[in-house]
Amino acid sequence: MPAHELNAYVDSLFGREDDLLREFRDTAAAEGLPQIQVPHELSRLLSVLVIQSRARRILEIGTLFGYSATVMARVLPPDGQIMSLELETRHAALARSNLSAAGLAHMVDIWEGPALDSLISLTGRSFDFVFIDADKANYPAYLDHAMSLVLPGSTIVADNVWRGGSVLQDDDDAAIGLARFNRMLADNARLRTAIVPTRGGEDAISISVVVT
Ligand code: SAH
Ligand code: DHB
Ligand code: MG
Repeated sequence: MPAHELNAYVDSLFGREDDLLREFRDTAAAEGLPQIQVPHELSRLLSVLVIQSRARRILEIGTLFGYSATVMARVLPPDGQIMSLELETRHAALARSNLSAAGLAHMVDIWEGPALDSLISLTGRSFDFVFIDADKANYPAYLDHAMSLVLPGSTIVADNVWRGGSVLQDDDDAAIGLARFNRMLADNARLRTAIVPTRGGEDAISISVVVT
């Protein structure tokens, strides 16, 4: 049974992507932005994880056009806040406009620039949920920063930790970064991690809870 038929079955039970999120994707496609936002079934998992973690302060690394930020902001309590880091001005601009259209602009602060620079200026802040989804080569550095910004009970989620299996090959900077990242998750005594396949098994996300 092909994965897309089972996804359609799940959508028929739990709901399809809504019109606003579909519109975000259509606009992004028309403007030539990459279509690499979280797929609908993963956005459902992301919202369940945000609710389950009782998060109020979320750090997102990699905003794109604000798709995952919208998904997460929708399930935050009214005083919840997302800090989302994005390198590309064009992506950040469309994300801001999308979050306004969703009525969520007051909950999401988008910082433009290389995430590593922004992360340095976040020293001393704390977050209860971190979603890592930017350039894969820097995932190890993002995890190092994340570990200094979380507390016991916090959750760290990372997208694309299998990357179509390329993580087994070490043949480019992204694959090397992801292999190192997964090893770091496994070796870190402060974390308990599960790897959950996504995209019909082509890719996976990591879900880590900070235990100490
Ligand atoms: N989380 C988004 C998808 C993010 S795609 C969603 O699911 O809706 C990855 C994003 O990371 C892209 O927008 C890309 O421009 C951004 N990115 C790449 N390198 C970066 C860096 N060094 N710092 C911050 N953002 C970066
Ligand atoms: C890419 C990045 C992502 O975050 C993703 O989910 C899929 C693809 C990429 O850079 O190709
Ligand atoms: Mg991704």
